[in-house]
Amino acid sequence: VTRVFSGMQPTGVLHLGNYLGAMKQFIALQEEGECYYCIVDLHALTIPRDPAELRRRTRELAGLYVAAGLDPAKATIFVQSHNPDHAEAAWLLQCVARIGELSRMTQFKDKGKDSESATSGLFTYPVLMAADILLYQTEVVPVGEDQRQHMELTRDLAERFNRQYGEVFTVPDVRIQKATARIMGLDNPEKKMSKSAPSEANYIALLEEPKSILKKFKRAVTDSGTEIRFDPEQKAGVSNLLSIYSAVSGQSIDTLVEQYQGKGYGHLKVDTAEAVIAELEPLQARYHQLMESGEIDDILAKGAKQARAATAETLAKMKEAMGLIL
Ligand code: TYM
Repeated sequence: VTRVFSGMQPTGVLHLGNYLGAMKQFIALQEEGECYYCIVDLHALTIPRDPAELRRRTRELAGLYVAAGLDPAKATIFVQSHNPDHAEAAWLLQCVARIGELSRMTQFKDKGKDSESATSGLFTYPVLMAADILLYQTEVVPVGEDQRQHMELTRDLAERFNRQYGEVFTVPDVRIQKATARIMGLDNPEKKMSKSAPSEANYIALLEEPKSILKKFKRAVTDSGTEIRFDPEQKAGVSNLLSIYSAVSGQSIDTLVEQYQGKGYGHLKVDTAEAVIAELEPLQARYHQLMESGEIDDILAKGAKQARAATAETLAKMKEAMGLIL
């Protein structure tokens, strides 16, 4: 069976981009692979957070994982800091990673490069991510397009470690779902949907009320034309709606384009909103049930145990290879 690992940060709200780009792949893969799905609370600390909010968001994300369809009987669902091997392996890999390659990471350049006060954790963020993945001898990492550069670094670090110290790591492959790799912002289809966007009109949160979802889709930015066709370059807004509609309805983009020939953008917006609402309603109902039941803490406790058991051997191999006394 294939080893699968992926993670999400418990920051901000989970949105439709996270769901379509990553979570849906997680759910599909749990049927065939040995899957580890992590809530990366240590990564969240790279930017100062309110402690109470971080705790709340961590449990919330665990609840959303399960409500969306991740099954703790099929996949390991756990909190990164509950397996101390991640932080330890990250240190070891920091002694393999180079300042030059970390300086070239676009996420660091966007968030921290020009700021003397950015944390050093923000700089070494991708090394911790590599540790997450490599500790599990991961073969496949399902993510959205924005994680591609981090995945290339992870592969480079694995290969370099194996060369310098002997074969310890599996070199993982990235798995990006082309059609939903980059869901764009509703208020600005030139930029990806993001939880740190300045306006709430940018994203659809997974726990958002139907009324609000409809309103945001109705106001989604499109273009001044009238023709409905799939053309991300010329018609970013309309194409984004088609991508979302197709992903939640299971209908192909070609079918949708044909179906909307001669109809206005308004129709497409309302129907996309309704399809999204129909997809999210059962998730929301399960989420609220689950959080009332208190089940989440048990799921995370079980996940922590399984995660620790999965990484002990690889961490020991890393230490041994690097010259630490076991
Ligand atoms: P994060 O928390 O920013 O995002 C979680 C996942 O959602 C995907 N995603 C999107 N996909 C499509 N369209 C969008 N607009 C969109 N926005 C976000 C992301 O690509 C990601 O798959 N560094 C990671 C967390 C991480 C990780 C890992 C991932 C830490 N360790 C190990 C995989 C393996 C991050 O910040 O994701």
